[in-house]
Amino acid sequence: MSMIFLKRFIKEPTRVASIIPSSPMLVNRVMATMDHSAPRIIAEYGPGEGVHTRALLKRAHKDSRLLLFELDPELAEYNRKQFADDKRVEVICDDCEKLPLIAEERGIEAFDYIFSGIPFSTMDKDKKQGIMDANYQCLKPGGDFIIYQITNELKRFGEHFDRIDSSWCAMNIPPMYVTVYHKNGAASSARVRRINESENGSEVIRDRETA
Ligand SMILES: C[S@@+](CC[C@H](N)C(=O)[O-])C[C@H]1O[C@@H](n2cnc3c(N)ncnc32)[C@H](O)[C@@H]1O
Repeated sequence: MSMIFLKRFIKEPTRVASIIPSSPMLVNRVMATMDHSAPRIIAEYGPGEGVHTRALLKRAHKDSRLLLFELDPELAEYNRKQFADDKRVEVICDDCEKLPLIAEERGIEAFDYIFSGIPFSTMDKDKKQGIMDANYQCLKPGGDFIIYQITNELKRFGEHFDRIDSSWCAMNIPPMYVTVYHKNGAASSARVRRINESENGSEVIRDRETA
């Protein structure tokens, strides 16, 4: 049990949305969605006390860059101290909806991966759509937006992505979907959008024409 996480949950229950960090099984599932064989530019939304960040930094290339967006000032400060010796990390105590602005200020053209633990389900629809639009706009062709969430309701807001793959991780409190929203590479056609769902071992694949 992380005391800072519990303390911040008591103070800001809707925003922090959990009393315990993600389980090692969920963290591994999220990490498995990313390829770290080369330098990557990555944004993480809502690191909390940094359970995914620590795992990511163990795997990430030495020349990768990671921007952490943490809205809670105490958790942001905790992460600043925790990752002070790692030059790949920058902690931004701000809303993740500012990603395009923050990237532009830093001369970052696009991200390889954006991954998120923020509670989208309690956010209003316009804000959700704005963040999903910005995610698509800020990803490189071939990049992924990865999210772990109790529900998969965000799919409705991610229709501009070219493929959505989802799996269920039961080994977390509470169980979560890990969903990858993929933006096609420059050479690929965006005409076919595929939604793959894998739930409790059963898999459904739907293809539909979008152009
Ligand atoms: C459920 S916790 C996830 C923490 C951690 N990633 C984990 O897996 O244990 C959600 C975190 O997102 C942060 N958060 C919520 N809304 C945010 C936003 N709009 N921008 C940035 N961070 C946000 C909260 O302060 C909290 O630390």
